[in-house]
Amino acid sequence: MKFEYLEFTIAHYEKVIDLWKRSEGINVSSKMDTKEKIAIFLQHNPGMSFVCMEKASGDLAGCVLSSYDGRRGFIVHLAVEKTFRGNAIGRTLVERCLNEMKKKGAMRCLINVVSDNAIGKTFWKKIGWTERDDVKPFSIDL
Ligand SMILES: CC(C)(COP(=O)(O)OP(=O)(O)OC[C@H]1O[C@@H](n2cnc3c(N)ncnc32)[C@H](O)[C@@H]1OP(=O)(O)O)[C@@H](O)C(=O)NCCC(=O)NCCS
Repeated sequence: MKFEYLEFTIAHYEKVIDLWKRSEGINVSSKMDTKEKIAIFLQHNPGMSFVCMEKASGDLAGCVLSSYDGRRGFIVHLAVEKTFRGNAIGRTLVERCLNEMKKKGAMRCLINVVSDNAIGKTFWKKIGWTERDDVKPFSIDL
């Protein structure tokens, strides 16, 4: 199978939201993951989010959002379609995000992994990330 990696544009939204909703370990937000909000996210972080398409079929194989806040990078909602897993798509999508962050001067990237997402945790460790036990995410809704 051959894959191509493209910048995530809002034209990909319908296929992407469908994949996110079907992916274990992804908490889709009814407020923050609307088409309008994702369009704003992509405008704020141009060239930092990617999709992977299977060339022959044109099917969406994977996707990722990423951002840089001027200090650190963040990765959000990495997902690879089940039938295409194990082809280094997840690794490649993350590498693309990290390359863009490095170009901008970021020295660290963060991701929130759902506590019971064992596959996700294994994946991040395999590609060189460190599980933190010195911090616990807190949040507040605005
Ligand atoms: C996690 C996920 C993105 C991995 O995508 P993928 O394209 O299959 O991963 P890759 O092929 O790039 O694998 C990269 C490394 O992780 C390892 N890995 C991936 N999935 C694994 C699994 N289920 N069990 C053990 N190792 C796994 C691979 O073996 C590979 O390591 P290696 O190169 O040393 O062999 C995919 O399983 C997924 O979409 N899961 C559901 C959503 C999710 O959990 N996203 C992460 C949110 S934090």
